[in-house]
Amino acid sequence: MMKSYTDLQVAHEAALKGADVIRYFSANRHKLTIDHKGRHDLVTQADVQTEERIIETIREYRPDDFFLAEESEAHDHLTDARTWIIDPIDGTTNFAHGFPAYCVSIALWENRQPKAGVIYELNSGEMFTAEAGSGAFLNGQPIRVSDVKTASAALLGTGFPYRDLGLIDDYLHLMKCFMEETHGIRRPGSAAYDLACVAAGRLDGFYEYALSPWDVAAGVLLIQEAGGQVCDWQGGSDWLFGKRIICGNPDITAYLFDRIQHYIPREKRKPQLPH
Ligand code: IPD
Ligand code: CA
Ligand code: CA
Ligand code: CA
Repeated sequence: MMKSYTDLQVAHEAALKGADVIRYFSANRHKLTIDHKGRHDLVTQADVQTEERIIETIREYRPDDFFLAEESEAHDHLTDARTWIIDPIDGTTNFAHGFPAYCVSIALWENRQPKAGVIYELNSGEMFTAEAGSGAFLNGQPIRVSDVKTASAALLGTGFPYRDLGLIDDYLHLMKCFMEETHGIRRPGSAAYDLACVAAGRLDGFYEYALSPWDVAAGVLLIQEAGGQVCDWQGGSDWLFGKRIICGNPDITAYLFDRIQHYIPREKRKPQLPH
């Protein structure tokens, strides 16, 4: 019976099981301990226990699959094998402060391509889902990227990275340009949610650096299935491990690419691939 679940159904089920753990700690905040991986990089036992619950759930259905997951399986490479890429809580800083916008993000990759993905934003109850070749959905309804064609009508998303700080001055110049040329910039604090919002046409484009595979592995499939585009800061495809990403509807992706070429020096645009 269990084997009859599709990969997407497995991801969906695992996201809901993971969300139960997150909700438990939301309701029992006095039990939450906040540790630091770095000065700005928080982790709580909710992150760790949510990831355990998600992996345990997937293993029940797919015992032979592999994992790449932020808190326990943070490998720096992907093989051709079926691999579940998991961010148990994307937006831990938001979660730790009780600020809305944190998600479970789960993607299945095989032959280094995304096959299925879900992003579940707990505060809104929005479940974003996609399967390769079958479109992208929000709570079961089809979603598309926006059709905004010009920067002057675009709303952008980004993040304020807390690693790789040598890029900050260039990033701020880039941000000033976007503040002048677009409707504005939003920073919800969860890269997975940002990508889901691009897929749903709420944001016209998104750019960030210092991201990890589990931040983007599901969101990028949503965007591709919703008619959008994704590239790294050189226009290539090294965005999973390369820590630099641009995405959006096709016109705004092209606009972001153009401005990044202008404002970010060539050396700093290169994907930062693990050795
Ligand atoms: C973070 C969020 C944030 C992004 C950071 C990520 P986490 O993930 O996606 O929006 O700016 O770079 O690390 O640590 O909350 O899972
Ligand atoms: Ca983290
Ligand atoms: Ca994350
Ligand atoms: Ca996380």
